Amino acid sequence: MEYTVGILWVTWALGTLPLMGLALWFWNDIRYCFPHRKSTLPPGHMGLPIIGEMLNFLWYFKVICRPDDFINAKRQKHGKGEEMFRSHLFGSPSIIVCSPSMSKFVLQSSDDLFKMAWPSIEIIGHKSLVSVHGIAHMRLRNFILKIVNQPQSLRHTASLVQPRIVKTLELWAHKGRVIASHEIRKVTFENIGKFFAGFEPGHTMDSLAKFYEGVIKGFRATPLDFPGTAYRHALQSRKKVIAIFRDEMEKRRENKEYAMSKKNDVLNGLMELKDEDGNNLDEIEILDNILSLVVAGYESTSLSIMWAIYNLAKYPDVLEKVREENMKLRKRKNGQFITSDDIANELKYTNNVVEETIRVANVSAFVFRTVSEDIIYKGYKIPKDWKLIVWSRYIHTNPEYYEDPMCFNPDRWNKPSIPGTNQVFGMGPRTCAGNMLARLQVAIFIHHLAVGYEWKLVNPDAKIIYLPHPKLADGVEIHFTRLESK
Ligand code: HEM
Repeated sequence: MEYTVGILWVTWALGTLPLMGLALWFWNDIRYCFPHRKSTLPPGHMGLPIIGEMLNFLWYFKVICRPDDFINAKRQKHGKGEEMFRSHLFGSPSIIVCSPSMSKFVLQSSDDLFKMAWPSIEIIGHKSLVSVHGIAHMRLRNFILKIVNQPQSLRHTASLVQPRIVKTLELWAHKGRVIASHEIRKVTFENIGKFFAGFEPGHTMDSLAKFYEGVIKGFRATPLDFPGTAYRHALQSRKKVIAIFRDEMEKRRENKEYAMSKKNDVLNGLMELKDEDGNNLDEIEILDNILSLVVAGYESTSLSIMWAIYNLAKYPDVLEKVREENMKLRKRKNGQFITSDDIANELKYTNNVVEETIRVANVSAFVFRTVSEDIIYKGYKIPKDWKLIVWSRYIHTNPEYYEDPMCFNPDRWNKPSIPGTNQVFGMGPRTCAGNMLARLQVAIFIHHLAVGYEWKLVNPDAKIIYLPHPKLADGVEIHFTRLESK
């Protein structure tokens, strides 16, 4: 009897467990594809219930640290010519876009069709540039471009950021050994505080830095709003950041002289913005935008500068050429700070280094859109409300578009890249609103490093961590000394 029951159990287990496994494996495919069974969806696999393909994604990005093989594996399985794959990532049914032509189609189409979908609008603010759409977006964007990204504002920024960078590098040389990423974050934040709201280092800036760390940590976290979560902490940090800027606005309204002393900063620009009918932005519009601009610019610029320092240490021949070009400029300037025009006109090779740094860094590895209606693209259906994930990183590291893509080769920028393959700052109506500002800050940093200092990596083989953004596990620890005069 016992023997028969045992056999029955084994038979049941042998028959049922694989079936259950199969059901789980195809659960999402059945659930999400069934309503579209009359159309052809892009090839792919949507993974397990709830988590979709996240384990697979984390395997490539976190465990084996070969992020590009996540897409390579899909192309190997479904065909090299495929431009998109269906999946389920970050909690949504998704289409991964990995070709230049389809990314161009998505990013350059109207914002109504493919809606910008940044995470955590509650943290970033409903009235920030990244959250608004249509005419409201165009109007705000034009203004923000003018105050942060156009020649006149770049000239102002260049003169404003240099004293702090020069002082910081002197301090590094004095210390002799620093963790570059920590130090860069500090100086970049101080410069942002000055440029955005005329703040000087001190108590307010220390508090702001602390609260911004909270905002940035929770910004990409799962939106679970209860005590102890990164998301809840970010919401609380947002309130504190907003309170600091609100006080600053109040002070400016009450004291005209004080306001005049800060008339060149971004906060003042936002407070003075008027639309065609002469109306100013309301208070929450100003606050949401100042908060989100810092979020968008702080981490991305700091990481890019970190990658510049790392790559220049790894490629001494590149550093030598950068140094030669910058020394020439330094001689001509005879002790004066360089300007944004000097950088544009006289630092051709350095500008190539900046471009290559930002390509290789892949700070923004993918961008997200939500599809607002069913679309057919090259025979495949892209269903309404699914997420589109434009996998820019894959395009920037693909040997089909960039020869020997992992090699840091600034000379590749002597000729234009293949159309659609340079998406480091996105494309179309949502192209990065701070792209020239970011380039300028990286170039200025490189200039002062190259003309005055030498550095060596303490851990030349440090591991690269890819999430949430690519960085070195040791934070780029360097020995840092003054350059023997040449
Ligand atoms: C190397 C540094 C940077 C990188 C790699 C970068 C990358 C990007 C990318 C890829 C997008 C497009 C996102 C999308 O299409 O969904 C974007 C948008 C944006 N970036 Fe940047 N960014 C950088 C620096 C900055 C800076 C310094 C600022 C401003 C201070 C800034 C402000 C913005 C804003 C406001 C948007 C949204 C534009 C809109 O919706 O119209 N970024 N950035």
